[in-house]
Amino acid sequence: MCGIVGYIGHREAYPIIIEGLKRLEYRGYDSAGIALFDGNDLKISKTKGKVSDLEQRSEQEITKNGSLGIGHTRWATHGVPNDVNSHPHASNSGDLAIIHNGIIENYDALKKELISRGYTFQSDTDTEVLINLIEDVKKKENVKLGKAIQIALNQVIGAYAIAVFDKTKPGEVVIARLGSPLAVGIGKDEFFIASDASPFIEYTKNAIYLEDEEMAIIRLGKDIKIRKIKDDSLVDPYVQELQMNLEQIEKGGYDHFMLKEIHEQPRAIRDTYRGRLLRDKAIIKMAGVEDNMKKFLNADRIIIVACGTSWHAGLVAEYIFEEFSRIPVEVEYASEFRYRNPVITEKDVVIAISQSGETADTLAAIKLAKSKGAFVFGVCNVVGSSIARETDAGAYTHAGPEIGVASTKAFTTQITVLTLMALRLARAKGTMSSSDFRLHIQELELIPQKVEQLLKVDEHVKDIAKQYLLSTNCLYLGRGYNFPVALEGALKLKEISYIHAEGYPAAEMKHGPIALIDDRMPVIVIATSKGHYEKVVSNIQEIKSRKGKIIAIVTKGDTAVKEIADHVIEIPESEEAFSPLLTTIPLQLLSYHIAVMRNCNVDQPRNLAKSVTVE
Ligand code: M6R
Repeated sequence: MCGIVGYIGHREAYPIIIEGLKRLEYRGYDSAGIALFDGNDLKISKTKGKVSDLEQRSEQEITKNGSLGIGHTRWATHGVPNDVNSHPHASNSGDLAIIHNGIIENYDALKKELISRGYTFQSDTDTEVLINLIEDVKKKENVKLGKAIQIALNQVIGAYAIAVFDKTKPGEVVIARLGSPLAVGIGKDEFFIASDASPFIEYTKNAIYLEDEEMAIIRLGKDIKIRKIKDDSLVDPYVQELQMNLEQIEKGGYDHFMLKEIHEQPRAIRDTYRGRLLRDKAIIKMAGVEDNMKKFLNADRIIIVACGTSWHAGLVAEYIFEEFSRIPVEVEYASEFRYRNPVITEKDVVIAISQSGETADTLAAIKLAKSKGAFVFGVCNVVGSSIARETDAGAYTHAGPEIGVASTKAFTTQITVLTLMALRLARAKGTMSSSDFRLHIQELELIPQKVEQLLKVDEHVKDIAKQYLLSTNCLYLGRGYNFPVALEGALKLKEISYIHAEGYPAAEMKHGPIALIDDRMPVIVIATSKGHYEKVVSNIQEIKSRKGKIIAIVTKGDTAVKEIADHVIEIPESEEAFSPLLTTIPLQLLSYHIAVMRNCNVDQPRNLAKSVTVE
């Protein structure tokens, strides 16, 4: 995790770096810092807290001039978040400055070795060890910065995206990547460095994404030189044209990114199926699936690997794939899968789901599956991300940038992509009749307008939120397709409001959780009309008779649940398989409003980061 930004060119670096760090705060926000070369010297300002705290601190600490600088927003791994552990870090001589996203696993051994050679350390970080290792190599071997970095990185075990400069050679920045993302924006006589392209989108549309095990030497007035860290071979830079625009990464009048992203879902779902769902021709076209149809049709099973909300989307997909395409599906936490010795064969198709495309555990699970011969298909949102590149084929969700740490539109668009895949495979396998297929795609096409309609429940949900904002626990229940939605609803509430919440299959309640029910326990129950309705109504009655408070998500026109529930939120009628795309919306809104009323930082909840690039 952590966000890094750098600039070298003809403009003032400070405002570019500060604004860039704000856009990358989703990656971590424990502390922030900046290092500038002001024409004479290296100036560093850093602080525990957010980028806004850094702005205040740097007012007093540094002059903000200079056209070379690097900045960092941190999600702490080694060392508590405090001023000293914040990045950038300087080397012992004070000549070199570094920012780092990742973990140096063998830092302790390297640190001991450096201490024995007279180096001293101010912080508890692995990064300060790395910059002194670089300095040590540079002096010992009498080599230039780029070479010293290359030699040092070959001694390092771990993951990194780094940017380093030397105040004695201020026309140059060296960057390198292994396991953490790094993009370079190419302007006219200027270069931008960042964890993703958002910090430089208004300056240039041309970007190079560094691959793992690559480093680049960026010299002002010269081209960028990319080399392999291991063997020093030169790599031809591949310049991509960025599709993102500034509007997409701004709040657009909403109080929070999360609320904006909840409201973007009708558009996002449409963008996900645009060009893929062709209703008039009654077909679904997905290049990544078409090109690998044999692999899918011959698959013994599909294994889905993912984390967090993406794992919940995988659980919804399990129900959909098995129902529509009759392919056995297993859904695995990537973090568990990668450390087991899973039985994987060449006849397995592994689907990796990830919004960011950078989640370290998911990436490792992909590598493991590939090493065992499985075909790996990626479902990612971020174009060009590590997972998108590591997988054999894939489909983007096209949700647009998701900035709020709590996933919302990523979830519904992932389900949409996976539903399209399941429908496409159902036709190819003949497990769904053409008339059913036609009905399903018509129904799926209607989902965005139903979500639009559903978003009007916002005020009603807000009223409900007012009554439960002081709760300390919450239970979420659902069955079938909506069991994963219950899990997702609970995750949303706990991560942004810090209220403890559990998601459970409704029928499992009687095997334990029912003991928790009393008059202070709100229970959110998804009771759609086609989803084992009578059984869920019985569960609601069981809760009511123990004085629990029921907030029920029901299908429009419901009467039975309305009579017993304390609150109902109606969703439009739909095919049950598509109902997660609807039932999840009020749950997102409920968490959002409760968190806002509890004065929580909705977009940047404590201890979290948007993209989890550490194990
Ligand atoms: O980028 P990914 O989809 O791989 O991220 C996976 C999880 O870290 C992510 O879904 C996380 O659980 C979110 N904070 C949930 O809102």
